[in-house]
Amino acid sequence: MTDADIPSGGVGVVVVAAGSGSRLGAAVPKALVDLAGAPLLDHAVARVLAVTDVEQVVVVAPPGLVPEIAGRYAAEPRVAVVAGGAERSDSVAAGLAVLDERLALVLVHDAARCLTPPEVFDRVIAALRSGDVGVVPGLPVVDTIKRVDEDHLVTATPDRSALWAVQTPQGFTREVLLEAHAPGRRGTDDAVLVEEAGHRVRVVPGDHLAFKITSRADLEQAARLLAGATAP
Ligand code: CTP
Ligand code: MG
Repeated sequence: MTDADIPSGGVGVVVVAAGSGSRLGAAVPKALVDLAGAPLLDHAVARVLAVTDVEQVVVVAPPGLVPEIAGRYAAEPRVAVVAGGAERSDSVAAGLAVLDERLALVLVHDAARCLTPPEVFDRVIAALRSGDVGVVPGLPVVDTIKRVDEDHLVTATPDRSALWAVQTPQGFTREVLLEAHAPGRRGTDDAVLVEEAGHRVRVVPGDHLAFKITSRADLEQAARLLAGATAP
């Protein structure tokens, strides 16, 4: 298939949740940390399942927690659970390996972005259905960004109007993502692997609720948002 072909078919989502959450510093891996009375992962999975086009969700879990997490979603036939790997890209590869081969479109989503609204998924899927092979949600950068050298001296100030901070879910045609995720290839997101393989990647509007829970302050912010309170 060339980039110009319009992909059709179903959508699978790989939800990577196998990280330890070292910066959060909780007693349990980040996926199982409590947020408003439920594990963080439940918030993410519920929002993914609310996306009507999604036919399969592969949750990539910390290896020791696969039975426990599989048990949580046993009643949901669309959800499969597999063990993740040492790096995020290893976890993505583990999820891709069990994805239904009939699904033409694949979204990769961080469980840590557990409040991402279903509408963001819809926008990514719509762009893929319009013919894009790689789509990432993002927001315009609001701070001025400086490039610095090893001595922290500024070497450049990129034009802010051309900079976007990208989030997940990142969506791809299945074959483009499988090609990009060849063994040993690593990047800070999935799109960069697709870009490096020479494919066009489009940015669509993300959402402030798609922020990543990294620190304790982020978890508290998410709890406030769920409680309907405005952040201080
Ligand atoms: N992730 C994963 N497998 C890994 C590392 C990360 O599935 N080996 C997932 C995390 O579970 C998370 C997402 O990738 O949903 C983004 O990673 P990050 O926010 O860095 O989570 P952690 O790696 O768990 O946190 P930390 O870096 O603080 O340890
Ligand atoms: Mg990490």
